[in-house]
Amino acid sequence: MRVIVLGGDGYLGWPTAMRLAARGHDVLAVDNYLRRRIARETDSEPLFATPELPERARLFEESGGPKVEVAIGDCCDFAFLADLFRRFQPEAVVHYAEQPSAPYSMMGYEEARLTLDNNLTATFNVIWAVKDHAPGCHVVKLGTMGEYGTPNIDIEEGWIEIAHKGRKDTFLYPRAAGSLYHTTKVLDTDLLWFYVRTYGLAVTDLMQGPVYGLSTAEADADERLLPNFHYDDIFGTVVNRFLVQAVAGIPLTVYGRGGQTRGYLNILDTLQCVLLALENPAAAGELRILNQFVEQLSVNEIAEKVQRVGNALGLGVAVRSIENPRKEKEDHYYNAKHQGLLDLGLEPHPMTDDVIAGMLERVLRHKGRIERGRILPRVKWSAARSAAEPGRPPAPAGVDA
Ligand SMILES: NC(=O)c1ccc[n+]([C@@H]2O[C@H](COP(=O)([O-])OP(=O)(O)OC[C@H]3O[C@@H](n4cnc5c(N)ncnc54)[C@H](O)[C@@H]3O)[C@@H](O)[C@H]2O)c1
Repeated sequence: MRVIVLGGDGYLGWPTAMRLAARGHDVLAVDNYLRRRIARETDSEPLFATPELPERARLFEESGGPKVEVAIGDCCDFAFLADLFRRFQPEAVVHYAEQPSAPYSMMGYEEARLTLDNNLTATFNVIWAVKDHAPGCHVVKLGTMGEYGTPNIDIEEGWIEIAHKGRKDTFLYPRAAGSLYHTTKVLDTDLLWFYVRTYGLAVTDLMQGPVYGLSTAEADADERLLPNFHYDDIFGTVVNRFLVQAVAGIPLTVYGRGGQTRGYLNILDTLQCVLLALENPAAAGELRILNQFVEQLSVNEIAEKVQRVGNALGLGVAVRSIENPRKEKEDHYYNAKHQGLLDLGLEPHPMTDDVIAGMLERVLRHKGRIERGRILPRVKWSAARSAAEPGRPPAPAGVDA
């Protein structure tokens, strides 16, 4: 298959590009380095530096991997994107190219505006590039489980049947996101649904939970091919943050009561899910929504796991609760269906003690590079900068372990 990976320099994009190429697909990876720029501006750089995209592609070939084509440019620039689609004629596109940090989107007006403009324009341009230049191209779009919020009823896979005054119909499952970033994903889904109905596009919207891990078959061949491992409060997901805190001797910081429950998955399972979606495409005129995670865990449960495994490795891990910088429920009902990808053949890698130990050992090798001031929350949902205040990087956390 000829596949374009948008956001191909990202945490998930680069491992996906390698995996698809290794499976024999022709891959074009596209990125404008927005994440690298934001990480620099907010002092949120990853644990170890990673080469830029052309260098990554060169190293992958040098390690015996197949060729990955690369293009550097902005998906919000329609002329650039349209030209890529016209030239490459993709049969599928994996759309990762968004600003994915909830805290960044809540820093203030400028960051919120960038997130809204970037994410919606990129999705809108993908739709039009497919419609105008690659009709029939299957769009695999990354959404998030965060679109659903934490409703007090079971979360279905994208759709819900509603009976009202004696009649029934099926609708998109209600959404109630907890950050502006997550809200852009809700809006993306609505845009896609409109164009699926109107122009018959074939779309898979993957509602993904937080991903953890950094080991993949292709990256393990050469450390320089590893994904970007963020452990900061802006780009780092909770598992990656806890691993680094355990290694750095900082108590694992649970936000509030720690009952916040979400569906998690290993990066190995993201790769499987995206491949399964690509190799079993949605039909023309179908918006297929799949919930992409393998197990539900609360923040407290993750902290307990990392503490137990860290202590077995002699790390002496403590856990402490801090004021929650977000606005979210800290104890709530959560039961989300996730059957579609299992039916397609997903073989889950749960968060076992061995998996946690493997990740801790990797982080331990880079212990000297950990910047302690990057981990504690620097962004509060209740303290967003107004449009009148000029942009400035967030203040480093004053408190530490
Ligand atoms: N990582 C997770 O836990 C997670 C969970 C749920 C959903 N997602 C979604 O998966 C996707 C990938 O996430 P990630 O963690 O790899 O994020 P990431 O920031 O590492 O990767 C996104 C990549 O897209 C690029 N990009 C952004 N806007 C662009 C534009 N306009 N033009 C070209 N490139 C652009 C960025 O530079 C970055 O390299 C995102 O859409 C994210 O919302 C991620």
